Amino acid sequence: MVKMNVRLKMILLMVMSLVLGFSSAVDFRWRKGGGFSGRFTRAAGSSVVFPVHGNVYPLGYYNVTINIGQPPRPYYLDLDTGSDLTWLQCDAPCVRCLEAPHPLYQPSNDLIPCNDPLCKAMHMNGNHRYEAAEQCDYEVEYADGGSSLGVLVRDVFSLNYTEGLRLTPRLALGCGYDQIPGASSHHPLDGVLGLGRGKVSILSQLHSQGHVKNVIGHCLSSLGGGILFFGDDLYDSSRVSWTPMSRENSKHYSPAMGGELLFGGRTTGLKNLLTIFDSGSSYTYFNTKAYQAVTYLLKRELSGKPLKEARDDHTLPLCWQGRRPFMSIEEVKKYFKPLALSFKTGWRSKTLFEIPPEAYLIISRKGNVCLGILNGTEIGLQNLNLIGDISMQDQMIIYDNEKQSIGWIPADCDELASLQASAAQVYEY
Ligand SMILES: *[C@@H]1O[C@H](CO)[C@@H](O)[C@H](O)[C@H]1NC(C)=O
Ligand SMILES: *[C@@H]1O[C@H](CO)[C@@H](O)[C@H](O)[C@H]1NC(C)=O
Ligand SMILES: *[C@@H]1O[C@H](CO)[C@@H](O)[C@H](O)[C@H]1NC(C)=O
Repeated sequence: MVKMNVRLKMILLMVMSLVLGFSSAVDFRWRKGGGFSGRFTRAAGSSVVFPVHGNVYPLGYYNVTINIGQPPRPYYLDLDTGSDLTWLQCDAPCVRCLEAPHPLYQPSNDLIPCNDPLCKAMHMNGNHRYEAAEQCDYEVEYADGGSSLGVLVRDVFSLNYTEGLRLTPRLALGCGYDQIPGASSHHPLDGVLGLGRGKVSILSQLHSQGHVKNVIGHCLSSLGGGILFFGDDLYDSSRVSWTPMSRENSKHYSPAMGGELLFGGRTTGLKNLLTIFDSGSSYTYFNTKAYQAVTYLLKRELSGKPLKEARDDHTLPLCWQGRRPFMSIEEVKKYFKPLALSFKTGWRSKTLFEIPPEAYLIISRKGNVCLGILNGTEIGLQNLNLIGDISMQDQMIIYDNEKQSIGWIPADCDELASLQASAAQVYEY
């Protein structure tokens, strides 16, 4: 983690529909559609919502489409709450670019100088490489070894509020002209959408310009869809499980208190686990001790069950096969106990982040069931534990930088996505 930004892919799902059931959907549409004042005031509570596409396996990423430039052009970006900088593969010209779905971004000529506060914020941890005062060079390196090198520019982002109003702020982004792919599977995307806590993150920039509250959320469906949102009016805060955000680890979305690992509802004895929520990671990573505990406990539970280790399946480090290939996690989840992380929120109170079998297992192409929790020490995460997409699916995860809290609530992310799509249509008439 030192000198690398762990890409956190987090999608906050809106909890409303699950919690409120069908009537909530109606309620929601009514609220969005009703009232002229809501449409025309740029209330501080206004949200921007994006549809999300992707999955943990086999794709390994979730993406959103963002329109950037004049005229606006669409780009598919990797949703990443684990890093700050948004960058596009860029024709500056490009030294090394990876295969991408859209033509390379043609940078605006609005170069950000190196004395700009955003440039200074980028280089706070000391990796200055000022080659010329009139431009701000950057280099980001991710935990999987991938990297992007380029220069910061400002350009127009075309966004829509849920109420239909257009928003066209000028925001800083990276024009990346030298990319190295990460060790994990290559993502055929145009760049990264940085949603971290730092100043240069798109959320921080939109917030400092007064466009949205400093809150993001995502809801990633295990069926491949979902939403990303900026703002705080898509959920009922009183129904969300909240935990305070760390002030020390201010670079990441990390609970203030370390978590305690539970297996089948009982403590494993592992406490104070430093945890971060990272939508840029498709799998969950535990530190050596927690990883060892989980693999030991799972193997112990599986002895005598009709599952044996499938050493010839290299989809992930640990896979098991049954008598016949599995089609879905439903068929195997009875053999696996739920995990959970319990975070202290006060002197006596705790919040539980549940990780049921669906949130830590995948079914490989060969029909085996594989453990989607990996050994983070192996990729240099040291003591950190990282909650990846696999464990955040089918709930809304909310990063509230105003209240300095992280929250979660079970949600039907597909329903939320279709509600948003129909709400958007209402305003397009
Ligand atoms: C990215 O998301 C868009 C929808 O926003 C979808 O149409 C597209 O297929 C996705 N691209 C990739 C490469 O997954
Ligand atoms: C914003 O809304 C306009 C119509 O009001 C629509 O044409 C455009 O595609 C929308 N943009 C996005 C990014 O959804
Ligand atoms: C995790 O990875 C580290 C570093 O490669 C290794 O030393 C350790 O034995 C691994 N832990 C387990 C339980 O496999």
